[in-house]
Amino acid sequence: MRTETEQTIYLKDYAPTPYRIVSVDLDFKILEDTTRVRAQLTIEPREQTPPGTPLVLNGDELKLDSVAVDGAPLVLSAYVSDANALTLVEPPHRRFVLETEVTLNPAANTKLMGLYRSSGTWCTQCEPEGFRRITYYLDRPDVLAPFKVRMSAPKALAPVLLANGNLVDQGDLGDGMHYAVWEDPFLKPAYLFALVAGDLGSISDSFTTMSGRKVSLGIYCTHGKENECHYAMDSLKRSMAWDERRFGREYDLDVFNIVAVSDFNFGAMENKGLNIFNDKLVFAQPETATDANYHSIERVIAHEYFHNWTGNRITCRDWFQLCLKEGLTVFRDQEFTSDERSRPVQRIHDVQNLRTSQFPEDGGPLAHPPRPDSFREINNFYTTTVYEKGAEIVRMLATLLGEAGFRKAMDLYFERHDGEATTIEAFIKVFEDASGRDLSQFATWYLQAGTPQVGVTDSYDPASQTYTLTLTQKVEPTPGEPTKKPLLIPVRFGLIGPNGSPMGFGSVSGGAVEDDLILLDRDSVTLTFTGVANKPVPSLFRGFSAPVKIASNLGQEELLFLARHDSDPFNRWDALQTATTTLIANAATGTAWSGTEVDALRQALVDTLDNPELDDAFKAQVIDIPTEPVIGRHIGKNVDPDAIARARADLVRALVGPVAEKLESIYRGLEVTAPYSPDARQAGQRSLRNGLLNLLTTGSDRGSDLASRQYDNATNMTDRYAAMAISARNWTAGAPALLGDFRTRFAGDPLVFDKWLTASAQAPDDGAIERMRATLTAPDFPRTNPNRLRSLLGSFVMANPVQFARADGLGFRFVTEAVAEIDKVNPQVASRILTGFRILPTLETRRRDVGLDALRALKEQHTLSRNVSEILDRIIA
Ligand code: ARG
Ligand code: ZN
Repeated sequence: MRTETEQTIYLKDYAPTPYRIVSVDLDFKILEDTTRVRAQLTIEPREQTPPGTPLVLNGDELKLDSVAVDGAPLVLSAYVSDANALTLVEPPHRRFVLETEVTLNPAANTKLMGLYRSSGTWCTQCEPEGFRRITYYLDRPDVLAPFKVRMSAPKALAPVLLANGNLVDQGDLGDGMHYAVWEDPFLKPAYLFALVAGDLGSISDSFTTMSGRKVSLGIYCTHGKENECHYAMDSLKRSMAWDERRFGREYDLDVFNIVAVSDFNFGAMENKGLNIFNDKLVFAQPETATDANYHSIERVIAHEYFHNWTGNRITCRDWFQLCLKEGLTVFRDQEFTSDERSRPVQRIHDVQNLRTSQFPEDGGPLAHPPRPDSFREINNFYTTTVYEKGAEIVRMLATLLGEAGFRKAMDLYFERHDGEATTIEAFIKVFEDASGRDLSQFATWYLQAGTPQVGVTDSYDPASQTYTLTLTQKVEPTPGEPTKKPLLIPVRFGLIGPNGSPMGFGSVSGGAVEDDLILLDRDSVTLTFTGVANKPVPSLFRGFSAPVKIASNLGQEELLFLARHDSDPFNRWDALQTATTTLIANAATGTAWSGTEVDALRQALVDTLDNPELDDAFKAQVIDIPTEPVIGRHIGKNVDPDAIARARADLVRALVGPVAEKLESIYRGLEVTAPYSPDARQAGQRSLRNGLLNLLTTGSDRGSDLASRQYDNATNMTDRYAAMAISARNWTAGAPALLGDFRTRFAGDPLVFDKWLTASAQAPDDGAIERMRATLTAPDFPRTNPNRLRSLLGSFVMANPVQFARADGLGFRFVTEAVAEIDKVNPQVASRILTGFRILPTLETRRRDVGLDALRALKEQHTLSRNVSEILDRIIA
């Protein structure tokens, strides 16, 4: 029905503000029920600004109490104000101080943008446009200013008072009130503003930087949770050291604080000197957090810390440039984890994530370029395309320039743009200047949506000992982009001889090849290699050198040959994944596999398990059978999730059957007896063991009991959760009992409840929707907490295609009805859940139609936020 303003914002309309904000002085008076914000903004016109140009400050749900210029209250005719803006009709044509006062009600702020309360703690989230919910401001990333923040609050409710920068003053005010003053000497955009006030516990530590400065580190949390913050602290110190080693970047303030809060719209936020985190990305202890949780904590702590240079010191000119900071910072956190743990394993992990989340986005109705050129609601563009594809683009730059060349370019980036709000164009220019390369074609990666499909054909001529390899590229149209330009695709490659060893060649002609890198820069490139003694098997896109879909010409035999012999661990893994996906996809669409194919695949898996040179974490990824959504994506159209689930289970049964006993004995031998440690080696051992449990549960009758026993005997959450989740996903005889036990055993721990919600939402049984409905409508379900809602509904739409995409439409309607309710409370969470409908175009018509019906009903029957309307319209379109 009705929606909020439908205005579209365009990149081409960018213009600097007519006024500059020279400095910001904020005074927060925090009381139990209300918070009064007084802002003193020192403002001046830019040189080019004509006298009489109005000054328009952004607001969002604000109510102005008073406004003055240079100490004198403004007369009514001098300004216009409403909830969304404060306009000074004719501001002074010189430097002046604008003083405003507003009163906020943080406890009523369920959108969790701006200043809100989470379990009693006052905290803020300002990126991208939350600061305008705190005070009238030029709330855009290219307005940089120094901030001074004074805050006062009742000492009993908020003994801890934090903001950005350094603490410069604090004291008592009498009447039970106290105050603190924080000053941030670095210029920053308002989205990096943060404030926290509450009754919090903390742990502290310090880090000495490479130039010998001592930085105080603090992590703040609910009382009683201090002991669960140590892994986060350890990750922070390792991140600080790594950024010095790898990028020469030193921390720049005397203090670095992190605060964990329970109500948060996403993972975490890089506010200058005061990162605020979703507590699920801080708290960890072996009994309640999994290895995967530890891994995420390490990664996100690093990510937010790295933003201090890539995001804060150098920020974005406008929100279209979001991937300037996000893509680059994801690349940096991926590199950090690769250096701290296993590089090949991390690469596989990141590519799996890309294929599971980003490829479906890029191939569906929500596809957009990493640097979009229009949006209605910027919050809808914090996407896997901006983040993860953005990181892949930076990785390709690193591949093209080589390690030394990349570092040189990054040094130039920091030197040239420190203190600026800049653009993707400026970023690319740095790489051009540092390398002397022309990157104009490469830049298309940022500007064009869609995953390129690369086709491969080859032939060998024994008489002339020449090998010919043809690579083609093609991108399907995406919304608003009917035709596509060819991209510059770096293809890292090797040729493998019949005995499995690398093969040399004499010369190569027909296209650009730099060492082991083919530059595929046209629709089609045909390379001729001379001096090739035997017919080689090509290993292409080693290390996944570009975010493309590869339509390999290799048959199962050659894929299994690569799985055995490729010197590139990523491609060994990928070869088996491709072989497995193909068999399942074929079976789901009517082409049965042959016994020989299954035997060969089984042998390859067993050989991997038996290979003493491979580590457990890698083996775990090799035996991980592609998920149903990934197979669905591979099939691409007319998808029937039931057929996929059946074909997948059938294949696993065929693979496991003859070796079930062997797998079980490997499983038993892998039990970790040492005390729990989240380190990569031990976690790898657990993940292999749980991978085997998964195979045995899907593929044999042994799994159900094994899982139940593992659940009962588990001494850590990794093993206990794996046993429950595997049982639930396979809906074993023991599953209901495990779900029941888990729920009561950990009642009262919200982050563990999330795990139950996820496992319950991913179970494919026919009772899934009723179970979810009962959970969601229970009177004590925390309806406003993003973690709870995402664990239930996010997991359901993204990972349970059998129930979500039911042909009777029950799954779709359950979600649209929930979205309508959630939208009234928190539009960001609602619209994120709704993106699960992006699979509709790939589904068979019956399911697609009932899905569209559910979306149309949502649109017609409810007043929706801009967040939800935008996603809805793009999917329906
Ligand atoms: N900048 C934060 C980070 O990635 C995330 C902010 C997300 N904001 C949003 N509106 N979704 O580190
Ligand atoms: Zn980020």
